Amino acid sequence: MSPKTLFTLFLAAFLINVSQSANILAVFSCAAPSHLIVEISMAKVLAENGHNVTVITTLQPHVSHKNINLIYIPLSKEEQQSRDSLLAGMVERDNSNMLVTVFRMRKESLFLFNKNRNVMKDPRVQDLYKNKDNKFDLVMLGYYLNSFQIGIAQKLKVPVVIATSLFQSSIFNIFLGDIGKQAYVPSMFISVEKGRTMTFAQRLINYLSLSALKMNMYLTEKDNAEAYNELYGSDPAMPKYEDLNKNVSLIFFNSHALSEGPISPSFPVAIDVGGIQIKEKPDPLPSEIGDFIENATHGVILLSLGTHVKGTFLKNDTVNRMFNVLSKLEQRVIWKWENLDKIPGKSENILYSKWLPQDDILAHPKIRLFINHAGRGGITESQFHGKPMLSLPVFGDQPANANKMVKDGFGLSMSLLTLEEQPFHDKIKEVLENPKYTQKVKAFSKLFRDRPLTARQSVLYWTEYVLRHHGAPHLQSPLVHMGFIAANNLDVYALLLSLLIVFLFISKEVVKRLYRKLSVLAARKEFVEKPKKLKTK
Ligand SMILES: *[C@@H]1O[C@H](CO)[C@@H](O)[C@H](O)[C@H]1NC(C)=O
Ligand SMILES: *[C@@H]1O[C@H](CO)[C@@H](O)[C@H](O)[C@H]1NC(C)=O
Ligand SMILES: *[C@@H]1O[C@H](CO)[C@@H](O)[C@H](O)[C@H]1NC(C)=O
Ligand SMILES: *[C@@H]1O[C@H](CO)[C@@H](O)[C@H](O)[C@H]1NC(C)=O
Repeated sequence: MSPKTLFTLFLAAFLINVSQSANILAVFSCAAPSHLIVEISMAKVLAENGHNVTVITTLQPHVSHKNINLIYIPLSKEEQQSRDSLLAGMVERDNSNMLVTVFRMRKESLFLFNKNRNVMKDPRVQDLYKNKDNKFDLVMLGYYLNSFQIGIAQKLKVPVVIATSLFQSSIFNIFLGDIGKQAYVPSMFISVEKGRTMTFAQRLINYLSLSALKMNMYLTEKDNAEAYNELYGSDPAMPKYEDLNKNVSLIFFNSHALSEGPISPSFPVAIDVGGIQIKEKPDPLPSEIGDFIENATHGVILLSLGTHVKGTFLKNDTVNRMFNVLSKLEQRVIWKWENLDKIPGKSENILYSKWLPQDDILAHPKIRLFINHAGRGGITESQFHGKPMLSLPVFGDQPANANKMVKDGFGLSMSLLTLEEQPFHDKIKEVLENPKYTQKVKAFSKLFRDRPLTARQSVLYWTEYVLRHHGAPHLQSPLVHMGFIAANNLDVYALLLSLLIVFLFISKEVVKRLYRKLSVLAARKEFVEKPKKLKTK
């Protein structure tokens, strides 16, 4: 048999094996666009490969497909208002104190948590398991501190995999187990240059911030247990909340540790699919944007401050300063701006747009700089396409993301809240004119893309793996099933310590008795010898 026919046969066998389409329920109810974009990219891969995916969301996704059935439970007017004021409030504050930030995160994630809880009470969602005509094979849960939602997988009696827009961190210890990596795996609050280990001060901060995060997780888990009991507690067939986290088959992380770091011991249930939201081949650009880029003679700058920091949340002064600098550049600028009736100013070289195909734009060779708010999605896209950056972080994880990006050498960063014209201008010029940023980010791009399976192939392969084997409990770390004492070997240490103490006690007794005996002997000898001495005198 020629290799070619062998390959065809192999391919056919592979296709037959996976050709059965599965019914997958995706719970992506976290009302934050940055989460939904990543999560729904995973659902789209499954839909494109013939699976029937039912997606629960609270935001209107930008992605659609004939195999995606949407259960859309939008934010009410009040919810929308409270979200907007929450976000506007966040922009004003200083986020330099890491402990304060951790606990503020909790307060802010409470809004998302309550929406998640309400979603699970929605009749359309409850019908999914109450109506016996519905058949599901798998639940995919978008994770952001919402493990009580795993309950729906137990109701349906199907395996559950987690899709998250986050990277691996200690908040996933509830699924992975905690093996005390604080000494050498930096948390999101610390950025360490490639190839360096943490200094003493960094390890101290790492330890303290992880401890704060642990306390935060403790409270979050209490909220989760309460929500779980409220929703599912009355059903005696349901497991206890404490056992719920032990039943997660896989976690898809939005990271790629091999290129991004941090390097740490990994678990087989953790699958890195960083960059999943990025198209492997860009779509053609809308003609207005495409022409604008093509006609630029000095390259193009893309400016987008993300979905959270809407243009209108910014202070007028800041916007004016940015406009003054950008309108005087020889480069063209594409500026993402929500309110086209109130643009920052008119200029030949600036194109405002309400919505941008950011990924497709960044793929264009004429893009020379990406000015962003240091959201993880944007930074990842820029890294994938090898474009240098100027980050203007505002809140949450943004300052830390920007810090890491700068340490990696992919660009520069400055606070949006204290932006002044001269430094803004100087930093743009520096990143445009000094080739070192582009070289570094292009080298990274190659490393980031070099994988045995692409992000999309990984999602498909591993999801179908769980489907084929009806769950993957065999991949789980034993740590998940161990108590604190066993997981940290405290009982072994206690036994060895007691043995040591007993040994020391016995040794001491033996030595004491021996000494006493010897002393007695010595005394006797002296007694015997003394008269001799007397005699000789
Ligand atoms: C796909 O899922 C939807 C929603 O659960 C269901 O109504 C539909 O029958 C499913 N389609 C197939 C082909 O299984
Ligand atoms: C874990 O999930 C399986 C279905 O995949 C179910 O049969 C089992 O009861 C669950 N175990 C626990 C402890 O929830
Ligand atoms: C770009 O240039 C082409 C011809 O070179 C012209 O037809 C078109 O109007 C220009 N578009 C823009 C947006 O400047
Ligand atoms: C900012 O400018 C807009 C008009 O562009 C105006 O309506 C608004 O009151 C200004 N806000 C402040 C704080 O000056």
